[in-house]
Amino acid sequence: MNEKVLILDFGSQYTQLIARRVREAKVYCEILPFHTPWETLRDYHPSALILSGGPNSVYAEGAPRPDPRWTELKVPVLGICYGLQLMGFQLGGKIGPSRRREFGFAKLEIVGKSPLLEGIEESSQVWMSHGDELLQLPPGFERIASTENAVNTVVEDRKRRFYGVQFHPEVVHTPCGKTLLSNFLFRAAGLKPSWNMSSFVESSTAALKERLGNEKVLLGLSGGVDSSVAALLLHRAIGDRLVPVFVDTGLLRKNEGSQLQEAFHKLGIRVYSVKAGKLFLERLKGVSSPERKRKIIGKAFIDVFTREAKAHGKIRFLAQGTLYPDVIESVSVRGPSAVIKSHHNVGGLPKTLNMELVEPLRELFKDEVREMGRILGLDPLFLSRHPFPGPGLAVRIPGTVTPSRVKLLQEADAILTDALREEGLYNQVWQAFAVLLPVKTVGVMGDCRTYENVCALRMVTSQDGMTAAWFPAPYDFLQRVATRIVNEVRGINRIVYDITSKPPGTIEWE
Ligand code: XMP
Repeated sequence: MNEKVLILDFGSQYTQLIARRVREAKVYCEILPFHTPWETLRDYHPSALILSGGPNSVYAEGAPRPDPRWTELKVPVLGICYGLQLMGFQLGGKIGPSRRREFGFAKLEIVGKSPLLEGIEESSQVWMSHGDELLQLPPGFERIASTENAVNTVVEDRKRRFYGVQFHPEVVHTPCGKTLLSNFLFRAAGLKPSWNMSSFVESSTAALKERLGNEKVLLGLSGGVDSSVAALLLHRAIGDRLVPVFVDTGLLRKNEGSQLQEAFHKLGIRVYSVKAGKLFLERLKGVSSPERKRKIIGKAFIDVFTREAKAHGKIRFLAQGTLYPDVIESVSVRGPSAVIKSHHNVGGLPKTLNMELVEPLRELFKDEVREMGRILGLDPLFLSRHPFPGPGLAVRIPGTVTPSRVKLLQEADAILTDALREEGLYNQVWQAFAVLLPVKTVGVMGDCRTYENVCALRMVTSQDGMTAAWFPAPYDFLQRVATRIVNEVRGINRIVYDITSKPPGTIEWE
């Protein structure tokens, strides 16, 4: 990989979006925190630099300021919002509070010519979010565009190839933003749109081959997209020296284990499957506290996996399907993000395994992983699968978990999922599933009284699982699913629909 853009993160909530946009333009990029040592930046040899936005004022105490020697990298630089102000501040301009703070839409008034604005029309809508602005340009800079409330909205020093925009080109509310970013990459910085997934697969395979040599690699398969794609890539690099282990916890969706076996069998990859349902259900007996369930399942998983790992003799490497957002979360300006996630990492494996970590997807975003999976031949059914929590159906059975309750839920859940697929709704939602409630209600079926379980249906839309909205499912769809579940699943006689968003609810019930 020759050309790469470096994005310095000053803590904006949109920094990842900038990276997404740059990669969509087929240029490879990575994000580093603003306080990355200058030597690291230099040795990274970026082809261009982007300074992200951020919530601070450059004058504020503790405001994020990088080593000013970024100018010595001698590469094209684009400052966005705070990035523009920081650039102005460090290069000798003047920053101060805006006459009027600006949050929301504004119109561009173009006053100069710049490669940055090629193809962008006068009065284009841009999205602003700032309290400060660049009041006086640093030496060498020129104003290219303004808006009603910010005089220096687009500026450049063409000689040094330094550019700055006060608005956010990375958000959808700036429709010309993609053009502007492409202009920076291709016209101002002279890069080529040459990064694509096929070439990434090639270079990653070669790098893995070299690093792993003749060693064996252990990988925990969860049935999700990430670990599946990691397995495919590793198998491509080291063949059967990959040891993929799949722990069937007995808390999976209907047929999940066999579907996974079949998909990998078709790809010629041997999976070591451990049927551990009995152990998990035994340990869960009589437990109803959500947190205890999670802890018990996490521990059981680790026990089974560790035992399995040992059975394969000495293995030097342990692979994990860590993605780029997780990597950024842990290195970014804000530091490792809120706790919500930590209890999710049921798949997190113990350090006592004493293995070196391999994370072949750590540079990729989720949709890029899907694209890689597609290239490597993973069954489309797997690629588009809804996320599934590590503790499985146990957290969808409030109260105690028994084999018969797991079975009931599997059946109801399969009816919902099949109906979503049949009616073309599956990909419209982030997640859809059934929950088996510890409540019995009275019903009447065929003139007879019934006294059975209540099942809740949950369908949500979401971008990343951090927030979610309940899905306004068509009434007739809900009716068909409810009728089928009550008719076909003996033990459920009432269906309710969950209309709680996140926040205040969470997606899972426990
Ligand atoms: P919540 O319920 O917190 O879930 O709104 C957000 C997303 O995370 C998934 N989830 C998990 N994933 N292990 C996982 O790998 C877990 O323990 C876990 N708990 C929740 C949930 O399905 C949703 O997509």
